[in-house]
Amino acid sequence: ISMVMNRIWAFRENSAEKTFLYKKLLQEKHTFNKTNIDLFRKDIGADLGRNFSKVFIVDQQNSPLGTKLRYNLKSSKKKYFTVTEDFHKRIPKRSKFGNVRRCSVIGNSGIILGSNCGKEIDEADFVFRCNAAPIPPFTADAGKKSNLTSFNPSIFTNRYNHLKKEENFTQFLEDMRVYNGYIWGACFSTSGYIKECLRTLQNYNITENVFVIGHPDHFRNHMIFWEKRGLSKRPSTGFYFTNMAIYHCDEVHLYGFWPFPHMVDSTIKKPPYHYFDDMKFDFEIKNRDVHIMDMEFSILVQLHLLGIIKMHIGECD
Ligand code: CTP
Repeated sequence: ISMVMNRIWAFRENSAEKTFLYKKLLQEKHTFNKTNIDLFRKDIGADLGRNFSKVFIVDQQNSPLGTKLRYNLKSSKKKYFTVTEDFHKRIPKRSKFGNVRRCSVIGNSGIILGSNCGKEIDEADFVFRCNAAPIPPFTADAGKKSNLTSFNPSIFTNRYNHLKKEENFTQFLEDMRVYNGYIWGACFSTSGYIKECLRTLQNYNITENVFVIGHPDHFRNHMIFWEKRGLSKRPSTGFYFTNMAIYHCDEVHLYGFWPFPHMVDSTIKKPPYHYFDDMKFDFEIKNRDVHIMDMEFSILVQLHLLGIIKMHIGECD
């Protein structure tokens, strides 16, 4: 596998040849390989420690009063957040991520449009979604089930005017009603959004789901795990959730992962960067400044070929 991947890797980052070869590889017959899944889990487990599944979410047990939670980004103005009494009483008593049979992880690429994969996605026992991607009107292609939905606090800025006005907060709550399970706030990436996160924690009065906060150590350990294996930039949420899913789900199915400007052999020649908005696809910036999605994708394809995950890039039956 690594020889084939190295040859593909040699193509220009955003070349159509590269995406064509990826597509060919992903079209080959696929079966899940329990031995490889166990090996991968052992590898992550060895690096991340035995408490791995207990520190995914900030809770009263892993973050007692006075705990210093470290912000993950170097650009963060403050280094730590100290757990206060008010914060402590609003986080879950205990959180543990158990084992699940089948999981779907939904990336936000426009490749999912027209796929008709919604039904198949929802057949999973657990569905991971990224960055509060809207549910309607995309259910036919992207499904509607949600068990864990990430919420990058920059969304407070982009969609809810920094929560400056009461009506912004009301709108935010209204929009969140569409999700079930957990809304997983990446609140400890930088100190810049902690105010909005705390306000949310204090006033999250909807019943459809629970707002929880991602534990920064969990993400950081993950980042280090992949740094050691050559991924020099912060993992993207979709890549992070895929790792999480491999660890906890017997079968991991990925949809909507395609960080490329080319879609060979398809009616959608240039898939939009997101399936739900008109965000411009700046491949260079995405891959150099924030994440290395190009490299992440190459890792995901390898995991697919090893039978550890199954990637879906075409239409569903
Ligand atoms: N993704 C992808 N191809 C795209 C867009 C997104 O594979 N064209 C995957 C990435 O793994 C990404 C996830 O889908 O993390 C969610 O997409 P998006 O909301 O665009 O993520 P980012 O804005 O990059 O933010 P984050 O830092 O949360 O990953």
